[in-house]
Amino acid sequence: MTDRITAASPTETGLSVTVDGTEKRFPWLWVRDHSQDEEVFHQAARQRLVETFELGRVGPADRIEIEGDQLVVAWEGAPESRFTADYLARVASPAQSYEVIGTDRPSWDAESVASRVTVVDHEAFLKDDAVLADALDNIRRTGLVSLKNVPTTVAASREVMERIAYIRSSIFGEMWELKSDGKIADTGSTPLEITPHNDGTYNHDAPGLMSLHCLEYNATGGDNVLVDGFRIAEILRRDHPAAYEILSRVEIPGQYIGDGAYLVARRPVLRHDDAGNLVQVSFNNHDRAPFALPEAEMSELYEALGLFAGLIRDRANQYAFGQREGDMVIFDNWRLLHGRLAFEGQRHMVGCYLNREDFESRMRMLQPRPLDMVADGA
Ligand SMILES: [Fe+2]
Repeated sequence: MTDRITAASPTETGLSVTVDGTEKRFPWLWVRDHSQDEEVFHQAARQRLVETFELGRVGPADRIEIEGDQLVVAWEGAPESRFTADYLARVASPAQSYEVIGTDRPSWDAESVASRVTVVDHEAFLKDDAVLADALDNIRRTGLVSLKNVPTTVAASREVMERIAYIRSSIFGEMWELKSDGKIADTGSTPLEITPHNDGTYNHDAPGLMSLHCLEYNATGGDNVLVDGFRIAEILRRDHPAAYEILSRVEIPGQYIGDGAYLVARRPVLRHDDAGNLVQVSFNNHDRAPFALPEAEMSELYEALGLFAGLIRDRANQYAFGQREGDMVIFDNWRLLHGRLAFEGQRHMVGCYLNREDFESRMRMLQPRPLDMVADGA
């Protein structure tokens, strides 16, 4: 194996280090700020103990040495700073270092979804970390995973989701049951068709993952419908760029009024990150709050929303599947829209939410070495 750190020297303002053939430069303050010695960094809490902004003028270092694949920076009157090549290579691109969702998430439609849905057995999901990792990766890549043979109790549903993270509470509580009894102020509690939508358009931070688990099915109809919002975005971008643009720009308010709450949040239907990647789809016609733009722009927005609504109702874009007792699906609420066909009879479902960051956290913990721990014990 060749040495990864090939040069390290002081500059007028900081440290220059060459890792994997690329020179990286860090101010002296950064080097001290990122030291992981136990005096300045709590080893168990993984928290910085140093009061960075009380260090005053930092540097130059007393000594800089390359020891194998580690860089050692020694200071007068302060513990030395040690970094592995891996840490130095990754830390300068935080977007890559911390990103676990990635962009390798090909979209699907009614035809291609069948070959993409992974079905996992309940027992294996609970007991086998490799099965869990694979299931989470399926949610990441495809937006969903299916579970079979989940005992038909609320507690079993909770256990499955807690295998990923703690349950996110909401206006509906932690575990919410859907029966056609109209007990909560939501169309989910009726037997009516529910057109595809995202949950939590009225939350600043919409639920990341969501589950639906069938406890009882004594009905006709009531298939679940999932739509890949990324596919809809691709079609709009290709065929209706003006609609894509306005849906990416205009923040639409969502609201939830009922059960003692009045929640409102705003964001565009298609939300992008700073690099221009689509990161979240937020569409819910039922929950859209009253608002008006200047007339011409409002008409343009209606046209774009109409195109979006038409595409999500197009059977060619829908994954429709009947859930029976013991069937459970976990899906990405930042990407997939969900709906349900009308039914007659009794249908008893339970669902819950997980936060986005907790889903990401679980995937990060299943990776061998989170960035913050790279220098740990190296
Ligand atoms: Fe919903």
